[in-house]
Amino acid sequence: CAATAYLVSMRIRNRKYWNRSLAILQEFQSECTTSLFRLRQVVDAMTVEMHAGLASEGGSKLKMLLTYVDNLPTGDEEGLYYALDLGGTNFRVLRVQLGGPEGRVLRQEYEEVSIPSHLMVGSNEDLFDYIALELSRFVESEGENYHPKPGRDRELGFTFSFPVKQTSINSGYLIKWTKGFAIPDGVGKDVVQALHDAMKRRGLAMRVTALVNDTVGALAGARYWNEDVMVAVILGTGTNACYVERAEAITKYHGESPRSGSMVINMEWGNFWSSHLPRTIYDEDLDAESLNPGEQGFEKMVSGMYLGDIVRRVLLKMAEDSFLFGTEVPANLYKPNILRTPDISKMHQDESADLREVAKVLKSILGVSSTPLKVRMLVVELCDLVAERGARLAAAGIVGILKKIGRDGSCLSNRSKCDQGEGRHTTIAMDGGLYEHYPKFRKYLQETVAHLLGEEIAANVSVELSKDGSGIGAALLAASHSQYVNT
Ligand code: GLC
Repeated sequence: CAATAYLVSMRIRNRKYWNRSLAILQEFQSECTTSLFRLRQVVDAMTVEMHAGLASEGGSKLKMLLTYVDNLPTGDEEGLYYALDLGGTNFRVLRVQLGGPEGRVLRQEYEEVSIPSHLMVGSNEDLFDYIALELSRFVESEGENYHPKPGRDRELGFTFSFPVKQTSINSGYLIKWTKGFAIPDGVGKDVVQALHDAMKRRGLAMRVTALVNDTVGALAGARYWNEDVMVAVILGTGTNACYVERAEAITKYHGESPRSGSMVINMEWGNFWSSHLPRTIYDEDLDAESLNPGEQGFEKMVSGMYLGDIVRRVLLKMAEDSFLFGTEVPANLYKPNILRTPDISKMHQDESADLREVAKVLKSILGVSSTPLKVRMLVVELCDLVAERGARLAAAGIVGILKKIGRDGSCLSNRSKCDQGEGRHTTIAMDGGLYEHYPKFRKYLQETVAHLLGEEIAANVSVELSKDGSGIGAALLAASHSQYVNT
């Protein structure tokens, strides 16, 4: 009889704890809700901040950086070009032989090299020496199929995916590091100079003719094949967007008029901020404990580097307050970034009836050996909330850009707003592992863009994966800007 009483009391206690976990989930859900109403506020805030960032330096948290790219690839580019793509845990070197309008991309090859983690937080010289070393190895493997221009240094497009204040198409200094890089002596330095110095130390004769952000490379790479591309978005480790802006709209720019009448603007939207963003206590804690507190607020709610850790934080709260994983909190749950976005993507997309992928991830990452089905279902629900919020916010950002350039349909009701291409098809080029490898994230994003735009306008807008465009895009920009760079 005492045993029965004990079992009953245990059951009541377990139910109480389980209900507490559900309450934590519900609270999180209500705090991170992204109703269409709220998303429209985010769309408007994005547009307002874009205007402010274009009006003056420091006018907004959105830096709206000048890129000096006023000449997007047309298909006429010819010759041998190299590209270097640095911006995450790997960097890529790429070589391409362009054949003009008839031949287009005649030949291309690339190699991917991972960056030892100590170099991501070491010294600028060490990082660039390493890059120059790998680049020179790659150049040595050129072979006979490629045709360098006789008597000229090889030309390189440098994709550098961090915020850079450019001073020309092939120079610019680093404003700050993002995405887990922290090399204090690199901040404020000209990144092209740093690369040129390292190449010189290696004896490598090569010259950077275009310095571009990865978004800009992606835009150029996609535009080479499709003239409708006006916007490029990266959803990977970090997130960012760029787009083609009319020169007159860039009021803070007082330099020479761009030849094409427009210039690509690197928004650095990862740093976007608005009080309309649905921020939770977990986001606040993640930010406070990050390498760059107070920075990249939008990125920390949207991009691949952070989604897994938001899930971990909510699970930790459930484990601590309501013993979700048993009486002991799994030690790994305390480790920042142990649960990565590919893990939550795997759990979220588990189609099996018993959610065995979820169980596997929980076991391998958190060391939890057995979990009841209802716990696994709760984990899936949590992954869904985090991915859905990120995808819907990114969608709102995209619609904000379309609104700014008059391609969101607003000119149907106000003709004076139709400054660019009303009724024309607009393509948004997308790149990045988060978008590419997380189908549910992709679906949420696409659906939300369509909802926000409405059926009629959405029919004229497409979001297209443009895989690895940023590397080849940099090579194309090296080609299209090559003749304008002083030798
Ligand atoms: C970070 C960088 C930005 C880059 C983005 C995507 O937000 O600051 O420059 O484009 O990541 O890689």
